[in-house]
Amino acid sequence: MSLPEPPIAVLAELTHRCPLQCPYCSNPLELERAAGELDTEAWLRALEEIAELGALQIHFSGGEPTVRKDLETLVAAAAQAGLYGNLITSAVLLTEARVEALAEAGLDHVQISFQDTEAGNADRVGGYAGGHEKKLAAARWVRATGLPLTLNMVVHRQNLQHLPQMFELAIELDAHRIEIAHVQYYGWAYENRAALLPTRAQLEDSIAVIEAAGKTYPGLAIDYVVPDYYARRPKACMGGWGQRFFNITPTGRVLPCHAAETITGLSFDSLRDKSLREIWETSEAFQKFRGVDWMPEPCRSCERREVDWGGCRCQAFAITGDAAQTDPACELSPHHGVMAELAAEETAEAPPEFRYRRYANAPETAKLAQPPAAGREADADQPAS
Ligand code: SF4
Ligand code: FES
Repeated sequence: MSLPEPPIAVLAELTHRCPLQCPYCSNPLELERAAGELDTEAWLRALEEIAELGALQIHFSGGEPTVRKDLETLVAAAAQAGLYGNLITSAVLLTEARVEALAEAGLDHVQISFQDTEAGNADRVGGYAGGHEKKLAAARWVRATGLPLTLNMVVHRQNLQHLPQMFELAIELDAHRIEIAHVQYYGWAYENRAALLPTRAQLEDSIAVIEAAGKTYPGLAIDYVVPDYYARRPKACMGGWGQRFFNITPTGRVLPCHAAETITGLSFDSLRDKSLREIWETSEAFQKFRGVDWMPEPCRSCERREVDWGGCRCQAFAITGDAAQTDPACELSPHHGVMAELAAEETAEAPPEFRYRRYANAPETAKLAQPPAAGREADADQPAS
């Protein structure tokens, strides 16, 4: 067995607690409780191991990472270890003083997620009244410290009409980069797919807007994540399973991607039991779909097999029930037609109500997998900050 290259980036999900309730949240349906979270010491050890492994970037995320009172300590440790530190935040809990403290601690970059540009709809999508205004203020504090800013815009059927305004907002807030990412349908987003999938007409309009924005705003870096349900080829999800990236959950499980636990039948090692190097290099879950040996046809003999790595394992599992299938986003997959049919069916009707991301809305099977909450402060809806 040859050893894998070091990962490039690590996503540290410091907590699943979050005051927002976005219906497309990438956290699992089985949200982890505050009582089980890794403590500061465990995260500090993890940061050292991440740097020793050769990774370059650490993304502090959640849930809402600013819920953790030790965030500045972790940011400082990452900076000291030579990691490029990026904060991915909803920003609604930030204060000007905290932004300054994070910058002081050595943070390199901030990504703020927006739910829309229109405050009423943004707050409705995020399930948090007054959130949009707080985000605008936080974005200005970030820029005032001199930190580079990215706006994360998750787009879907219920906010794509404001795509041109999203670029205007990025310019107004002096952002360096904007990420326009169509919802990826696993976990909560899969539960809310009929409410979120854009129509084909919306998609076509949005492509024209994005192309025009590239010309209108040459100084703004634009990243675009396409909607798989209308794609002809899949994306190289995670840059290939177990090749460039891993994710640490709040309780310390180490995953090849943030949605990997949606794939049943895989088990994931914890950094409480093994070193990150051992997990990265040898754990079964990472080996399972790494490289090309696991591939079925048509991927096995396809010239793109080392370009897109067969697409997304989580999507293959969500649509076909088998993570070892070609991603159905690929038109060469025998299951490709299913995605177009689902999209046509679900967008023909008015969107249903959102099923918001909160403990109480998890399916019964997911709730049963949880230990009882230690108290209200452990609830994702009620951050203990
Ligand atoms: Fe990618 Fe597999 Fe489709 Fe080829 S057949 S384009 S490797 S997903
Ligand atoms: Fe898990 Fe694509 S989201 S491999």
